[in-house]
Amino acid sequence: MLSHADNRKLTQVGAGTPMGALLRRYWMPVAAVDAFDAESVRPVRLMGEDLVLYRDRAGTFGLVDRHCPHRRADMAHGFVEDCGLRCHYHGWLFDETGRCLSQPYEDIAHPEAKFKDKIRIPSYPVEIKADLVWAYLGPDPPPLIPDWEVFHWENGFRQIVFAEVPCNWFQCQENSIDPVHFEWLHLNWSERLRETGGGYSPRHLKLGFEEFAYGHVYRRVREGTDETHPLWRIGRVCLWPNALFTGTHFEWRVPIDDENTLSVTWSYAKVPKDREPYVQQGTIPSWRGPVREPGSERWITTHVMNQDFVAWAGQGTVADRTAEQLASSDEGVLMLRKRFLEEMDRVERGGEPKALMRDREENRRVRLPVADRKAVEEGISREDMLRHPFMRSFLVDGYPFQQGQPSAVRRDYEQAMGIA
Ligand code: FES
Ligand SMILES: [Fe+2]
Repeated sequence: MLSHADNRKLTQVGAGTPMGALLRRYWMPVAAVDAFDAESVRPVRLMGEDLVLYRDRAGTFGLVDRHCPHRRADMAHGFVEDCGLRCHYHGWLFDETGRCLSQPYEDIAHPEAKFKDKIRIPSYPVEIKADLVWAYLGPDPPPLIPDWEVFHWENGFRQIVFAEVPCNWFQCQENSIDPVHFEWLHLNWSERLRETGGGYSPRHLKLGFEEFAYGHVYRRVREGTDETHPLWRIGRVCLWPNALFTGTHFEWRVPIDDENTLSVTWSYAKVPKDREPYVQQGTIPSWRGPVREPGSERWITTHVMNQDFVAWAGQGTVADRTAEQLASSDEGVLMLRKRFLEEMDRVERGGEPKALMRDREENRRVRLPVADRKAVEEGISREDMLRHPFMRSFLVDGYPFQQGQPSAVRRDYEQAMGIA
């Protein structure tokens, strides 16, 4: 059982909080690059801060305060110029470092006052990696964005998927180290929802958890498998500080504020061997999926991550960890909480927290445990894909993780995979 104080410490992400200080030491994915083709200015709320993300006409991204320093107009209504974002109210123009480049009336009436040189809008660094837009809200110097090897994998179809989940981020991240939920929330619950008469799925017999440089690994033995199975030998990754890595996709749980989380999935689907070499053209497509049925309060339960969202939000807006009864299946959850409490203390004492990338050499195609590495490295035949539970559902039923995939993305996917 956790104290109220520790529950607050683990969940609150505002600028003045210990967790807020810890999470601000890492880059957070906040948007996909392709979205800026349609709309160059987008409001973003990140760790309780209201900001505006834009791409100017030269292609430079900027992340600035939501409100103009002149008289507080909403910069989300601003428009981009060759360099920077211009407030729509009186035309003050700011660049991505926060400098004020122009104050149209003052520049004409009182150029000698150089008032613009005294004005700044709060701004944060932005970088692009894997066609995601990443933001850094922490102290200088920013670390590097991890260059996961997966971002460089070839012969695959990539997509980026968002969802807004109305609950605190930390219960979402605890799910990243919770192997048993897979059997119940995804397999058995899906079976009951569909009533296909399939019975219960193979049970978990044994779990293992351990920490490594970039997070934690969890391992499982289920009925019908043993310790030679890749899901025991290699396992899956709870990626520090706020993601799950399954071996083919990342799911970041990005705190919007204390009560809302942006789920960001970066997904890679290997094409069958008969489609190699395959090169995905253009920017990775992104889309945003709903969490509730259209026009209704009913949660969507048809897809894997939608089921996760229902479980997370069902724990309460901020799960009350003072009322839990933890069991041996929660060993990983306990390890994660302990690590976070220690890392918050480390940052408070002025130290560097876990898994900050600073070394350019180390940060080159960084390898992570991948249970299906053989399929990724050697390729996989169409027949073997159809025998593999997840790859099969990708091929046959469509994107299995979230509802709402646009038909254009599905069409491109089918083209990549060679589905007639
Ligand atoms: S409020 Fe933005 S320019 Fe006046
Ligand atoms: Fe799940």
